Amino acid sequence: MADEHDDPTSPVSTALIHHAYRAPVEWDAIPVGVHKASTVFFPNVKALRERRWIDKSAYTYGLKGTPTSFTLEARLAVLEGAEHVMLVPSGLAAITLVDLALLKTGDELLLPDNVYGPSLSLAQHELARWGISHRFYDPLDAASLAQSITPATKLVWLEAAGSVTMEFPDLRGLIRTARALAPQARIAIDHTWGAGLAFNPFRLGEPGVDADDFGVDIAVHALTKFPSGGGDVLMGSVACRDVALHHHLSWTHSRLGYGVGADDVSAVLRGLPTIELRYRAQDLAARRIAAWAQTRPEFVRVLHPALPASPGHAHWAALCTQAAGLVTVAFDPAIASARVDAFVDALRLFRIGWSWAGPVSLVAPYDPATLRKRSSDYRGTLVRLCIGLENVDDLIADLTQALGALG
Ligand SMILES: Cc1ncc(COP(=O)(O)O)c(C=O)c1O
Repeated sequence: MADEHDDPTSPVSTALIHHAYRAPVEWDAIPVGVHKASTVFFPNVKALRERRWIDKSAYTYGLKGTPTSFTLEARLAVLEGAEHVMLVPSGLAAITLVDLALLKTGDELLLPDNVYGPSLSLAQHELARWGISHRFYDPLDAASLAQSITPATKLVWLEAAGSVTMEFPDLRGLIRTARALAPQARIAIDHTWGAGLAFNPFRLGEPGVDADDFGVDIAVHALTKFPSGGGDVLMGSVACRDVALHHHLSWTHSRLGYGVGADDVSAVLRGLPTIELRYRAQDLAARRIAAWAQTRPEFVRVLHPALPASPGHAHWAALCTQAAGLVTVAFDPAIASARVDAFVDALRLFRIGWSWAGPVSLVAPYDPATLRKRSSDYRGTLVRLCIGLENVDDLIADLTQALGALG
């Protein structure tokens, strides 16, 4: 019978745990190795005391980075046109990190009126409890941004395009205004839609100013979308060019205990080589669907930055040739929202769900009244279509048959 003095192990356990074999380090293949660890060993106490994770020159603990995460960060810096990138557990966590790192009690942040909903919710319900207030500006009107700026403004968020209503702001005009009137503020962009491919927010170019010196301070990216591309990962990144700012953000990252799983990092590394091809394919498909939607009497508006009638089209055209594979249709207000719901329910290839940039096309209805704080010039139920990688003719056939369900 076993008692407490029984040792369930034999020397085999020790030998297995402390096995002397070391595989040859020379290994070269397409996939980046998946390094998993909480603890990282130090060869001696001196190394434990002296190793620095902040400049990524060494490994100290799983949360502070592994060869796998450092590699993804370096590759994302290329995609983002940035010098420094850090990984966080989701796109929303990236937004949270920026807010918490840069704001304190008494500060104010400015949000575009079409901001990604959870970013607004964060400001309303969490930041407000810490005495951090927020104001909204019309993303299509730099004068409205100017009016919102106060001496307390410490952070200005930009988003291009708006993730449901697709307005494309005059990024240069907004940045010019913020730099002139709020020199004390940092400027951050939610760069998920552009994905590092449609435009470079760090180098926007400005007449008379070196392109290298005109852009945002920080770009956050929901890697959950295009970089992953598989619909199987939640991750975000925070990119910047300035090393002091990066270190400041890195300390907040460290104190918050943000970590990402190595398997997820590996999945994003696998997605990156095809991101440009997928972005382009979904862009072309969305434009065909937008053109088709314009021919349908059920829709009073089709929102996609490449369409001349879409809000901010000229700003998009001045900066980009590409667009993400998202298109929003506004149903005729005479069509009750319950009938629009029946249309959405009738879709077969488009699946009902949030997010975008995976292989499966997604659909979600929105009530325009809930999307704006300042104004709403949208009428009729909005339905956002996120185009996947299916055949476009099949998708149009699906949309056509579902319109039959409107009754
Ligand atoms: C524009 C935008 N930013 C950020 C996020 C947040 O990404 P995540 O789902 O990884 O938190 C999303 C997700 O839908 C998004 O659409």
